[in-house]
Amino acid sequence: MTDAPEYIPGLAGVPAARSSICLIDGSVGKLQYRGYPIEVLAERCSYEEVAYLLVFGRLPTTTQLDEFRNQMIAERGLKFRIIDLLKTLPESGEPMDALTAAVAAMGMFYKGDHISDPEFLRLSVIRLLAKVPTIVAAWDRIRKGDDPIKPSTELGHAANFLYMLEGKVPTSLAVKVFDVALILHAEHSMNASTFTARVTGSTLTDPYAVVASAIGSLAGPLHGGANEQVLSTLDGISDRSANGIRRWAEDRLARKEKVMGFGHRVYKVKDPRATILQGLATQLFAKFGSTPEYDVAVELETQMADLVGGKGIYPNVDFYSGIVYQKLGIPTDLFTPIFAISRVAGWLAHLLEQLEGNRIFRPTQIWVGEADRAFVSMDERS
Ligand SMILES: CC(C)(COP(=O)(O)OP(=O)(O)OC[C@H]1O[C@@H](n2cnc3c(N)ncnc32)[C@H](O)[C@@H]1OP(=O)(O)O)[C@@H](O)C(=O)NCCC(=O)NCCS
Repeated sequence: MTDAPEYIPGLAGVPAARSSICLIDGSVGKLQYRGYPIEVLAERCSYEEVAYLLVFGRLPTTTQLDEFRNQMIAERGLKFRIIDLLKTLPESGEPMDALTAAVAAMGMFYKGDHISDPEFLRLSVIRLLAKVPTIVAAWDRIRKGDDPIKPSTELGHAANFLYMLEGKVPTSLAVKVFDVALILHAEHSMNASTFTARVTGSTLTDPYAVVASAIGSLAGPLHGGANEQVLSTLDGISDRSANGIRRWAEDRLARKEKVMGFGHRVYKVKDPRATILQGLATQLFAKFGSTPEYDVAVELETQMADLVGGKGIYPNVDFYSGIVYQKLGIPTDLFTPIFAISRVAGWLAHLLEQLEGNRIFRPTQIWVGEADRAFVSMDERS
């Protein structure tokens, strides 16, 4: 009899694919998309350019980017029946659930065989990138009793989303900050939602089902949901002096409770995305004034570095993203849907990579039940 394979909870450290999309070295805080450092992409590119890079594997030329942008702009609108569908959902429901439902429904409107039809696959990629932000903004307005705002045909991807929330053209600084936030969240290798996308895609189902399943996975508090909890953590610190914040952190750590926005499975130094987001936050505050949460966050980072920095626990991407989104006037429960708006590029890149030489995912299990049991008829069961 052969030895049973080792069971590794959460498949931690088990490679699930060979990939050339995202490189992470958590020991030194290195993050690269398609081999380009995240710091350079955040400074030099737009989200559309980064999405093209992730999905097609190369930086676009001016002509390619213009064509890609124009195709996305043409696909921003929603079918009126998708809007009707959103109107039937309870306004108190979770925005991530509304997004899952609407994206899954898209598969019914755009039927096709994406495996043998590269054009259908390409169009599906563009539609998903273009329409996911429109769904999130439309849902936010519908649940408040307002009509959705038609997408602009003039504004870029980041500016158009902010515009669709309130109907006001955002400032150039707000657009730049939000665009970079989208770039930073666009891809992060084999996390739970990306693995979900690859597993769903490996069955050769349609891309809308792939993205809907990934959104469902992202919604959980252990994955995309953490960014919404950082603000309430910061607001929960009543004594905001340096000593008060240190005491709060010490108490929390003594009770073995996690401090939201700190720690990462991969990074053992400060998450490079947190460093970039903090820089953006300071730009926003220089222009529009600081927030109490930011001052608490900076002091908490200092105190936590002293207390647990030696264990490799530093701010992750969620620590400053909520503070930035709050300053942009975005409701807290849209933070995770915004993560989805951005990450759809990464999911689609992984779908395309999975389809090259695809093999359906079919892991094994370790049987721990009782075998060969004698059936008991209904009248003999106790
Ligand atoms: C992200 C996270 C799940 C990574 O977990 P992980 O790599 O499995 O690390 P572990 O949970 O095994 O923790 C290792 C040690 O660091 C401590 N630690 C990890 N994250 C911590 C945090 N945020 N606050 C306080 N202590 C933390 C653990 O208590 C543990 O300490 P111990 O060795 O004394 O028991 C974890 O850091 C966490 O829950 N962070 C808060 C939630 C969050 O911000 N999530 C967003 C991630 S992008």
